Amino acid sequence: MFKNFLVSITRNAISLIGTGLAISGLVLIVSLFVMEQLGFEGGPYLGILTYLILPMIFVTGLILIPIGAILYRRNLRRTPGGESTPLLPIFDLNRTKTRRWTMIFLGATMINIVIVAGATYKGVEVMESVEFCGTACHTVMQPEHTAYQRSSHSRVSCAECHIGPGADWFVKSKLDGAWQLVAVAFDLYPRPIPTPLHDLRPARETCEQCHWPTRFVGDKLVIKQHYEEDEANTELTTALLLKVGGLAGQRSQGIHWHVDRGVSIRYRSDETREDIYEVEYTDENGVVKLFTDRKAPEEGGLWREMDCVDCHNRPSHNYQPPATEIDVAIRDGLIDQSLPFVKREGLRIIDAEFPSHEEARVKIAAELSRFYAENYPELAADRSDDISSAATALGDIYSVNVFPQMNVWWNTYPEHIGHQTSEGCFRCHGRRLRTEDRETISKDCDTCHTVLAEKEENPAILTQLTP
Ligand code: HEC
Ligand code: HEC
Ligand code: HEC
Ligand code: HEC
Ligand code: HEC
Repeated sequence: MFKNFLVSITRNAISLIGTGLAISGLVLIVSLFVMEQLGFEGGPYLGILTYLILPMIFVTGLILIPIGAILYRRNLRRTPGGESTPLLPIFDLNRTKTRRWTMIFLGATMINIVIVAGATYKGVEVMESVEFCGTACHTVMQPEHTAYQRSSHSRVSCAECHIGPGADWFVKSKLDGAWQLVAVAFDLYPRPIPTPLHDLRPARETCEQCHWPTRFVGDKLVIKQHYEEDEANTELTTALLLKVGGLAGQRSQGIHWHVDRGVSIRYRSDETREDIYEVEYTDENGVVKLFTDRKAPEEGGLWREMDCVDCHNRPSHNYQPPATEIDVAIRDGLIDQSLPFVKREGLRIIDAEFPSHEEARVKIAAELSRFYAENYPELAADRSDDISSAATALGDIYSVNVFPQMNVWWNTYPEHIGHQTSEGCFRCHGRRLRTEDRETISKDCDTCHTVLAEKEENPAILTQLTP
C-alpha cells in the first residue's frame, strides 16, 4: 500500500518535483528550527530562510503534487485506449482501502496545516523584527537604522510606529513590504528614500499606543552647551523654558495644545510639507480660522490633518546637524576643548561630502593633522593623541549622520521641532500666513519658550539653579 502511495506521488515528473520540494523543504525547516531551539543564532537571514523562503518551497511542493497527478491523468486520457481513464480519481468510501487512504490524507493535511501555520506565525514575527526591517536590506535602511539605534526609541520596534495595531494596516504593510523587497532586489528604490512618508499611518494611532497625548508636561527646562568658533572654543550656554504644556484641567495649553481633542488643525502644503500654503484651525466650538499665504499657489498641494509627526517628524531617525554633534562631543570630552579652533576646524572639515565613510575618516584625520601641523607645529607634536581622538570622534559623527551610498547628506532629513535646522515651527508661525483680518499665527519669542539665556558665558540663571 505504501508502495502505491509512493507510485502515485512520483509517477509523473511534476509530482516528483513537488514531492522533492516538499520533503527537502520540510527536512530543512525542521532541522533549522531544531538548531535554533538549541541556541544557534544565525541572524536575520536565517529567520528569513527558515520561516519565509523554505515554507514557500514546502507549500509549492505540496501544490505541485496534485497538479502533476491531474496533468498525468489528462495525458493518459489523450493516449489511444486511455479514454476510459476518468480525469479525477474515483472516490469510493465503501472501499476499505479508500477509507484508510482518506484517513492518512486527512492526517497528513492536518500536520501540514500546523507546519504552515507555525511557519507563517514565525514568519510574521521575523518580518516585524527590527533586524529584518533595519538590516535585511542593509544599505537601503542603514541611515534610518543607524539613527534609530541612537534614539530614545531604540527599544521600540519599527513595526510599532510604521504599522501599528489592527489587521487592515497589517495587510497593507505586507503588500508594501512585498513591493519593497522587489524594489531592493532590482535596485529600483529611490536614493535617498523620500520624506515625508505620505502613507504613514496617522501618528495618533501609533504614538498614542505608548504616549498619552495630553499628559501634562508643563514647562521643560532645556539647557544646551554651544562652543564658539574661536581659538579657545569658548563655552556658551543657552537655557530655555519650553512651554510643552499638555492637558491641565479642562483645556490644553502650550505646545501640546495642537493635539488637544477639541482642536483640529489642517493645512495645505507642497509635497515636502516644508512650504505651507494655508492653515485651517477649528476650535472646540466649531469656529474656523483660515490663515493663507497670498503668494502661494491657489490650487494644488496636499491637505493634511496635523498630528504628532508634523512636529516630531524625527522621533527615531533623528540625524543631527554637524555643529550640534560637535558641541555634544566637546561637552562629553570626546573632542578636547583645549585644542585651539577645534570647533571651527571640525565644522569646516566635516561639513562636506565624502564618497564613503572610510574615505571620510581618512580625509578628516589627514586634514585635522595638517591644520595643526601648519598652524601649531609644537602642539601637533606634543598632543598627537588628542588630535587623533578628535579626528576619530569627527569620523564617527560623519558616519552616523551621512550615508553617501544612499545619498543622505547633512540635512537631507530636516527636523521640524524648533526652528534651527529647518523652518520647523516657523512654517506656520510667522507673518507669511494671515487671516482676512490680517491676524497671524504668533511668532513672538515667548509664545513657545522663555529664553533664559542665549549663548552666554556662565549665565546667571545657571548659578541661580545650582547655587
Ligand atoms: C518612534 C517611531 C518610529 C520607529 C520606532 C521607527 N520609525 Fe521609521 N519613521 C518614523 C517617522 C515619524 C518617520 C517620518 C515621517 C515623515 O516625516 O513622514 C519615519 C520615516 C522612516 C523612513 C523614511 C525616510 C525618512 O527618514 O523619513 C524609513 C525608511 C523608516 N522610517 C524606516 C524605519 C526602520 C527600518 C525602523 C526600525 C529600525 C524604523 N523606521 C523605526 C517613526 C518611526
Ligand atoms: C511602543 C511604544 C512607543 C511608541 C509606539 C512610540 N513611543 Fe515615543 N517613547 C517610547 C519610550 C519607551 C520612550 C523613552 C522614554 C524615556 O526614555 O524616558 C519614548 C520617548 C519619546 C519622546 C521623548 C524623547 C525624545 O527623543 O525627545 C518623544 C518626543 C516621543 N517618544 C515621541 C513619539 C512619537 C511622535 C511617536 C509616534 C511616531 C512615538 N513616540 C511612538 C515609547 C514609544
Ligand atoms: C506643535 C508641535 C508638537 C506636536 C503636534 C506634538 N508635540 Fe510632542 N513635543 C513638542 C515639543 C516642542 C516638545 C519638547 C521637545 C524637547 O524636549 O526638546 C515635545 C515633547 C514631547 C514628549 C517628551 C515629553 C517629556 O516629558 O519630555 C513626548 C513624549 C511627546 N512630545 C509626544 C507627543 C505625541 C505623542 C504627540 C501626538 C499626540 C505630540 N507629542 C505632538 C512639540 C509637539
Ligand atoms: C501646521 C501649522 C502649525 C505648525 C507646524 C505649528 N503650529 Fe503652533 N499653532 C498653529 C495654530 C493654527 C495655532 C493657533 C493660532 C491662534 O490661536 O490663532 C498655534 C498655536 C500655538 C501655540 C499657542 C497655543 C495656545 O495655548 O493657545 C503654541 C505655544 C504653539 N503653537 C507652538 C508651536 C511649536 C513649538 C511648534 C513647532 C514645534 C508649532 N507650534 C508648529 C499652527 C501650527
Ligand atoms: C512657535 C514656537 C516658537 C517660537 C515662536 C519661537 N521659538 Fe525658539 N524654539 C522653539 C522650539 C520648539 C525650540 C527647540 C527646543 C529644543 O531644541 O529642544 C526653540 C529653540 C530656540 C533656541 C535655542 C536654540 C539652540 O539650539 O540653542 C533659541 C535661542 C530660540 N529658540 C530663540 C527664539 C527667538 C529669539 C524667537 C523669537 C523670534 C523664538 N525662538 C521664537 C519654538 C519657538
